[in-house]
Amino acid sequence: MNIATATLADRRAALQNGANKGSRIQASDIVIGKDILELISSAMYVDPMTIYREYVQNAADGIEAAREAGLISGDERGRVDIRVDPASRSITIRDNGAGIPAGQFEGRLTALGGSQKRGTKARGFRGVGRLAGLGYAQELIFRSRTAGQKTVSELRWDCRQLRTALRSVDFTGGVAELIAEITTGSLVDGTDAPARFFEVELRGIVRQRNDALMNIDAVAEYLSQVAPVPFHADFSFGEEIRQAIGDAQICELDIRVNEGKPLCRPFRNVMTAEGQPELTLRAIETIEIAGVDGGVAGVAWVAHHDYEGAVPNALHAKGLRIRAGNIQIGGHALLEELFSEQRFNSWAIGELHVLDRRVVPNGRRDDFELNIHMSNLINHMAPLARDVAKRCRTSSIRRKWLRDFEMHRTVASEKLAIAAQGALAVAERDSVAADVRGSLGRMERIAETPDLDAETVTALLEQMQSIRRGLDDLAVSDVVESPLARFEAPKREVFEQMFSLIYECSANRVAAKSLVDRILQKLS
Ligand SMILES: Nc1ncnc2c1ncn2[C@@H]1O[C@H](COP(=O)(O)OP(=O)(O)OP(=O)(O)O)[C@@H](O)[C@H]1O
Ligand SMILES: [Mg+2]
Repeated sequence: MNIATATLADRRAALQNGANKGSRIQASDIVIGKDILELISSAMYVDPMTIYREYVQNAADGIEAAREAGLISGDERGRVDIRVDPASRSITIRDNGAGIPAGQFEGRLTALGGSQKRGTKARGFRGVGRLAGLGYAQELIFRSRTAGQKTVSELRWDCRQLRTALRSVDFTGGVAELIAEITTGSLVDGTDAPARFFEVELRGIVRQRNDALMNIDAVAEYLSQVAPVPFHADFSFGEEIRQAIGDAQICELDIRVNEGKPLCRPFRNVMTAEGQPELTLRAIETIEIAGVDGGVAGVAWVAHHDYEGAVPNALHAKGLRIRAGNIQIGGHALLEELFSEQRFNSWAIGELHVLDRRVVPNGRRDDFELNIHMSNLINHMAPLARDVAKRCRTSSIRRKWLRDFEMHRTVASEKLAIAAQGALAVAERDSVAADVRGSLGRMERIAETPDLDAETVTALLEQMQSIRRGLDDLAVSDVVESPLARFEAPKREVFEQMFSLIYECSANRVAAKSLVDRILQKLS
């Protein structure tokens, strides 16, 4: 018996006879069960929204292919139209890319793995991404027509039948039998369809907890962050970033949801969200990262702002994020570990655009496979993260100094007003003025700290100057100006003592002063 070509039964027999060395398993003996389909489709994607990312990614690859074939001109943007219909619970994602020729249509869309894109410039390469919708719909329908083709090719995946077969103990076939059973291919009339297109229609969307798949705003929000769409016209640094990345790498698409305006990335020079303070992006810094063996491995940029805390979620721009093929991989926290204090990542706004094809997203596209090329990129991001963290810390310290300054300024101006009120005896008034000078001294020390910029210091000095002027006025003013001046000395002293007691016994200086003001008014 030739052990190398033995069947499984032969091998078992050989094993029992002790002849168990160096045998090779036959491909025909290997079982690939139906369950594999679930593992590479619904079980793979945790967040339902990732289905939009997978289909837009395929559209981007199809559009690039069309551009290379000269079907889309150089400066024309590829188009992706997304239709979300909550009433019929369906989603259609259509692109004007190259499409799939009729002869290859069913083959490509029923294959598992073995993507034709591997080794090319395309974003996909595993040959499974289009199955992302299987777990979220009742039916998945792919349609396409290539330039010059008369009819439209159509392939339907029956997801309900798929789920039943996966659960069934009677279905004993492998994954190929399962796919053959649940898919139907046909050629359909293309009268109303565009001359060249690819589309996927998801029918009977399964209701999720927050039903975000059916929420038009949520879809637009998600894609504005993740998809390859242009920067907004109100983000003046967009062009600089595009130049740094290179036009050939950036691939920006015209993506519209329910015929709305073309989607844009979320960055603006002044970013606003309801109920949140404005956030102004003041300057950007870009770095080019060299690959381990030369060439450009990536381009990163950060937008500096006032670093007053975490960037609000509602701005959709929080954290240093990573993009490959101008599509976001993972979420906002992927580079969090670069920061000694991780929370500072959420104070940052910026991106790393991966340009080296050897830096590969993982199967779920929620992180990258770790190899030397990826480690090299991460290492080069560290100084940028350190700089951002330093700015966050400096900003915290600066705000603490400004809070302290404001506290002393408030005390000084309240006491100045009391001293100028003319309700206290001269000695008492001098003591209050001395307090004001004390506060001024503390304000002066704050204004001298190196943590504050020149513009801020000038503003602080102006505030101190106004208090100093108040003190000078006090020095030249006379007792005659006091509202108590018209009383005889003994009576005046009684009032002065009473006012002094009010100030001494009151917990609230401002309230005490207004009480004294009212009494003085009654006395006048
Ligand atoms: N919008 C599209 N336009 C043209 N061809 C498409 C489109 N979507 C899918 N295809 C074809 O179907 C194939 C399978 O798509 P699928 O998303 O499953 O795999 P992939 O994109 O090759 O790799 P990945 O799993 O990494 O996404 C693609 O390789 C491509 O040939
Ligand atoms: Mg794909």
